[in-house]
Amino acid sequence: MTVRRSVIAGVGGYLPERVLGNAEIAARVDTSDAWIVERTGIRQRHIAADGQKTSDLAIEAARRALAHARIDAGEIDLIVLATATPDLTFPATAARVQAALGVTQGAAFDIQAVCSGFVFALATADNMLVRGQAKTALVIGAETFSRIVDWTDRGTCILFGDGAGAMVLRAEDTTPERGVIATFLRTDGRHHDLLYVDGGPSQTQTVGHLRMIGNAVFRQAVEHISGAMLEACRLGGVSIEDVDWFVPHQANQRILDGVARRLSISPDKIITTVAEHGNTSAASVPLALSVGVLDGRVKPGQLVLMEALGGGLTWGAALVRL
Ligand code: ACO
Repeated sequence: MTVRRSVIAGVGGYLPERVLGNAEIAARVDTSDAWIVERTGIRQRHIAADGQKTSDLAIEAARRALAHARIDAGEIDLIVLATATPDLTFPATAARVQAALGVTQGAAFDIQAVCSGFVFALATADNMLVRGQAKTALVIGAETFSRIVDWTDRGTCILFGDGAGAMVLRAEDTTPERGVIATFLRTDGRHHDLLYVDGGPSQTQTVGHLRMIGNAVFRQAVEHISGAMLEACRLGGVSIEDVDWFVPHQANQRILDGVARRLSISPDKIITTVAEHGNTSAASVPLALSVGVLDGRVKPGQLVLMEALGGGLTWGAALVRL
């Protein structure tokens, strides 16, 4: 039996050159490398250069994913870009990426689900491909959180980094066991004030800074992420034990450990980049996936479960066979 599935044809990631270590942050605010490593697992993060925009990071990641897929940009007829740090309020950052890649067909738009953005973008693109509304999609997560972090707030400035990850997704008639098998998305807007930016065109006419009640987000994270992972597996007709690789949103090593403990997942099945990348919000899942695929750990035919949780609160998971 064949069915229409969205199959991953290629992945790519891009991190800005400049690396910001914990010691450098400790020179600016009252914190220490030891505190940051113990509470978050983060040792460094990458920071976009002056003038380097979210679209610049996205374009580089997209070019790398296209090269990995051996696909010409001319074949792309859908770009879904997840970001909470767009170049401008509008137009969508995806429109700038589309133009830079020389794509002149199909649709390009942004998705805003903060750290869950890539999982939401993947689910959106998958639905459009399976419905026949496009044939070859670029799904991108790209962020420059360094622009919205309050660098005087030690509770948040230690966590975030900049980067982009991209995936080429192609509609194919294949076996039901291949490609995107199941996605699960959730939002609970009652928690919108646990993690937010205190600016925006409608409310303050400013860009604002990131604000977070970190321990409250932490308390929600393990339960919702675990629940989403189980739900995606249930929808896909597999169990957690069947999954070859877990590619989580890289928020905090303690959240990753908490989920792994709760679901009895062995740490050697988890792609972890949080120590080197920090939390790159919507970019973190596709960046981690590209690391796992390009270093040869994640192989064709293997079952991969991605998950994320972020502001909104939003959360979700995606089960994919490469
Ligand atoms: N260095 C030293 N001390 C600090 C720092 C720091 N960088 N940040 C906070 N503290 C202090 C606080 O001021 C507080 O001091 P007090 O007891 O004197 O008041 C103390 O540490 C404890 O503060 P908590 O906020 O309770 O610390 P916690 O152990 O929860 O760690 C952290 C804070 C790392 C932010 C944690 O809550 C966390 O990671 N939460 C998850 C949030 C997250 O990852 N958000 C990202 C977006 S959502 C997502 O991606 C899942």
